[in-house]
Amino acid sequence: MNTKLQPIFDTHKGKDGALLPILHDIQHALGYVPEEAVPLIAKQLNLSRAEVHGVITYYHHFRQTPPGKHVVQLCCAEACQANGSEALAAHAAKRLQGADVTLEPVYCLGLCSIGPAVLIGEDELHAHVTPQKFDALMNGLGVKK
Ligand code: FES
Repeated sequence: MNTKLQPIFDTHKGKDGALLPILHDIQHALGYVPEEAVPLIAKQLNLSRAEVHGVITYYHHFRQTPPGKHVVQLCCAEACQANGSEALAAHAAKRLQGADVTLEPVYCLGLCSIGPAVLIGEDELHAHVTPQKFDALMNGLGVKK
């Protein structure tokens, strides 16, 4: 753990407001922010464990468990809701039952006028995602029904 975190700590050493950038970098490196990282981050930034834990749990973005093979983020913000994201989320949850996929809500992907919007992985954005299109995307990833 320490060997993966130390370069991240070194990058942000002495900078103001380093907690969020460090958490982002850890999640980018490991896929999540492990519980055992909390005391190390706290020590590094001279914060309490509770302060670090509070920030991790406040932001939905930070995962506390390892993600599945694929991460699918579905926009649940207002404009996408108006275009059917709630029905899509229900469909997606059913479609992905038992699959090694982490399905997460996200609040705006910048495609508000052409939602519902879905982000697969870190950079594969899709607009106008219907349940049928969602299934096609999952089939394309090799996610079994
Ligand atoms: S509201 Fe869904 S992309 Fe902005």
